[in-house]
Amino acid sequence: MKPAILFYSFRGATGAEANRRAADSGADVFEVIEAKKRGMFSAFLSGCPQALGRKASAIKPLSIDWSLYDSVTLMAPVWAGHPAPAFNAALEIIPKDKILHVVLCSGGGETPNSKEATIAMLRAQGYALASYVDVRTGQPAK
Ligand SMILES: Cc1cc2nc3c(=O)[nH]c(=O)nc-3n(C[C@H](O)[C@H](O)[C@H](O)COP(=O)(O)O)c2cc1C
Repeated sequence: MKPAILFYSFRGATGAEANRRAADSGADVFEVIEAKKRGMFSAFLSGCPQALGRKASAIKPLSIDWSLYDSVTLMAPVWAGHPAPAFNAALEIIPKDKILHVVLCSGGGETPNSKEATIAMLRAQGYALASYVDVRTGQPAK
């Protein structure tokens, strides 16, 4: 069994971090893509409220043979202090019997307003949460 990394990235930083981690661990990497292409306006105007409300965005179907993987690292950027909506969408497809690691990428490198509630939500959903890591991936160059 191998580890898998599932990531959503709006502007590339989370994707770069995911690929770096995959190169180190030998994990297979899968990109979560939102069904509707998002611009910066929509990220702030509808994405941030969705993130705050822990709502899932619509994502494109992913074809993953889950029987190959025992652990899954779910990675997403932080929006409005919370995991971006595609994080919540990805949770709907990750089987609950996988060991789950969470890596959240942000400009500030911390999630003080949401971390405890995210961990509680994942445990309530039935995941064996093995780790929760905040990574400072910074702001993209303008
Ligand atoms: C809509 C939006 C909201 C954001 N909100 C936060 C935030 O609340 N805290 C923070 O530290 N960074 C915030 N950021 C910065 C991103 O989390 C950071 O740049 C991250 O590295 C982006 O990853 P990506 O390139 O994979 O999309 C926000 C970025 C966007 C686009």
